[in-house]
Amino acid sequence: MRLTTVFSVTTLLLGSASAWNLTDTYQGSTFFDGFNFSNITDPTKGTVQYVDRATAQSSGLISVKNNVITMKADDTNVTPNGRPSIRIASKKTYNSGLFILDLTHMPTGCGTWPAYWLVGPKWPNGGEIDIIEGVNNQTNNHITLHTSANCQMDPTSSNGTGKWLTNNCAVNATGQSPNAGCSVQSSSATSYGRGFNSAQGGVYATQWKDTTGIQVWFFPRRSIPSDITSGHPNPASWGKPTADFPFSKCSSNHFSNLAITFDLDFCGVWAGAVYKSQFHCPGTCSDYVINQPKAFSEAYWNINSLKVYQ
Ligand SMILES: *[C@@H]1O[C@H](CO)[C@@H](O)[C@H](O)[C@H]1NC(C)=O
Ligand SMILES: *[C@@H]1O[C@H](CO)[C@@H](O)[C@H](O)[C@H]1NC(C)=O
Ligand SMILES: *[C@@H]1O[C@H](CO)[C@@H](O)[C@H](O)[C@H]1NC(C)=O
Ligand SMILES: *[C@@H]1O[C@H](CO)[C@@H](O)[C@H](O)[C@H]1NC(C)=O
Ligand SMILES: *[C@@H]1O[C@H](CO)[C@@H](O)[C@H](O)[C@H]1NC(C)=O
Ligand SMILES: *[C@@H]1O[C@H](CO)[C@@H](O)[C@H](O)[C@H]1NC(C)=O
Repeated sequence: MRLTTVFSVTTLLLGSASAWNLTDTYQGSTFFDGFNFSNITDPTKGTVQYVDRATAQSSGLISVKNNVITMKADDTNVTPNGRPSIRIASKKTYNSGLFILDLTHMPTGCGTWPAYWLVGPKWPNGGEIDIIEGVNNQTNNHITLHTSANCQMDPTSSNGTGKWLTNNCAVNATGQSPNAGCSVQSSSATSYGRGFNSAQGGVYATQWKDTTGIQVWFFPRRSIPSDITSGHPNPASWGKPTADFPFSKCSSNHFSNLAITFDLDFCGVWAGAVYKSQFHCPGTCSDYVINQPKAFSEAYWNINSLKVYQ
């Protein structure tokens, strides 16, 4: 008895130094209480109408069933002013943390541009971390940072398994298309869209610390680590992340007061721009989004939980 007690106290002390502690759970019937509904005009020129909470509720765009929350776009009406949809930002803001999102479905299909991201005030000065993002019927997730000047990544000293698309995180970087940011493409076709949904999704884990930078892991549902499931996440045991953004050529002060954001945009400066050329989607993006409501039956998020550890 005595030995056991000594042993567990020691374990506790050793374990606590690096342990992440749960601070916020966004889940079930209280999920939406943690968020503001941003019913703004889309700054990225989408064919979308973001609605307020009352409208989202009354028109069935948000709901909770068996503790799973759904956020969707209108998929029944022809909508000449853009497709009614959701953009929410957490009321609480963060300066570091481990963000664990468990979801079973994400929006996909021609015209869609969904994102799960963290964003700071006075963009791009507070920084932006795009954790799940893509357009149309994309198959592999893109993970991207956007910052003010002087934030670069060095692919040769990064441990991520994904493919570097661009290295300069600054929105005005020369030699990259405007606002490309520093971006990594996952090598997994179950990381996004249809492939993600047919495998019942999984867990996206994002670690953000001043000392080690930003890392993002994706775990398909069949291989979620048991330390995540048990609520004691230990990133050191997870192996290489998909994306690794160390703060070696980028000061940590490029990121501050970030709000957790989910949105479902349509067309706009990304999905619309590559709708035909890259994805061979039908007709024109805005005509499709406005006039083909039935095409958006897969345009929804299903979220089990979002847990933040600090
Ligand atoms: C987690 O909580 C323990 C016990 O209060 C504390 O010692 C530890 O520093 C905390 N970890 C972090 C990362 O804040
Ligand atoms: C956003 O919603 C609020 C609260 O319902 C409303 O007062 C405001 O007019 C809406 N803004 C826009 C741009 O629709
Ligand atoms: C959420 O809305 C409240 C009330 O409008 C506002 O004070 C707060 O700044 C908003 N939070 C974020 C992160 O935008
Ligand atoms: C980027 O360039 C635009 C146009 O020159 C300028 O208005 C903006 O302030 C710049 N932003 C940053 C973060 O440097
Ligand atoms: C990459 O992994 C190596 C070996 O595990 C480690 O020494 C190094 O610190 C890691 N680099 C980064 C940027 O995390
Ligand atoms: C996307 O959808 C279009 C139209 O149905 C199709 O032609 C194209 O091959 C699809 N692309 C991918 C990557 O599935």
